[in-house]
Amino acid sequence: MLKIENLRAGYGAINVLWDVSLNIEKGKLTTIIGPNGAGKTTLLRAIMGLLPASAGQIILDNKILNGTPTWKMGDTGVTMIPEGRMVFRDMSVEENLIMGVFGLAHRAHCKARLEQAWAMFPRLHERRRQLAGSLSGGEAQMLAMARGLMSDPSLLIIDEPSLGLAPLVVNELFTILERLKDGTRTIILVEQNTARAVGVADHVYLLQSGKVALSQPASEVNLEHLHALYFAR
Ligand SMILES: Nc1ncnc2c1ncn2[C@@H]1O[C@H](COP(=O)(O)OP(=O)(O)OP(=O)(O)O)[C@@H](O)[C@H]1O
Ligand SMILES: [Mg+2]
Repeated sequence: MLKIENLRAGYGAINVLWDVSLNIEKGKLTTIIGPNGAGKTTLLRAIMGLLPASAGQIILDNKILNGTPTWKMGDTGVTMIPEGRMVFRDMSVEENLIMGVFGLAHRAHCKARLEQAWAMFPRLHERRRQLAGSLSGGEAQMLAMARGLMSDPSLLIIDEPSLGLAPLVVNELFTILERLKDGTRTIILVEQNTARAVGVADHVYLLQSGKVALSQPASEVNLEHLHALYFAR
């Protein structure tokens, strides 16, 4: 579904990604793990058009994505849930969700998608009139996930959803990720919680200093070996 070939990207004169190649299979959950600063978020930004690629190709369903502006990405069926939740703090929970169907193509589905969101995240329904800025970290992450789902993306990209959350909330989050794996939706999950990420994934990539250090089906991953690579310098 999404193919990345020899991608290079970075910030001005500083290059971060060095010839990164990935193959993201349709209907599967692919996790990209790696230590702080490995370039995971940079990779996602390059996919979303927030950063230009200085070399290589990003191909979505056989079409070259390089150069597509971020505001057009919604039309391609790709949605990213960024690192750090980024909810609209001064808007209610419901208004935040409505922002998720801002694209013209999606507006007609607003009511039905809201119903789906309430069904999947009942606690958000209870708090639908509450300002998003007053939610707990876990609730804000659920809201960011629910907002991302409002456009019913065919490719959902999630950057470090479990960061800073209590263990019980992390459990809840991974239960939701399991439910999102319905065979039709393609998911890219960036995580630092390696054991949990490998547990939920179909395929695992380890990114190390801007390069792919490992690519393996999740069922074949040996966590000890993975951790040894992860902490190698
Ligand atoms: N806006 C920026 N300008 C310059 N350098 C940046 C910028 N954002 C990130 N970097 C650098 O790019 C490298 C990769 O950062 P990136 O955020 O992609 O890592 P990451 O794998 O997502 O890490 P983390 O797990 O901490 O989120 C780091 O060395 C970082 O300092
Ligand atoms: Mg990051």
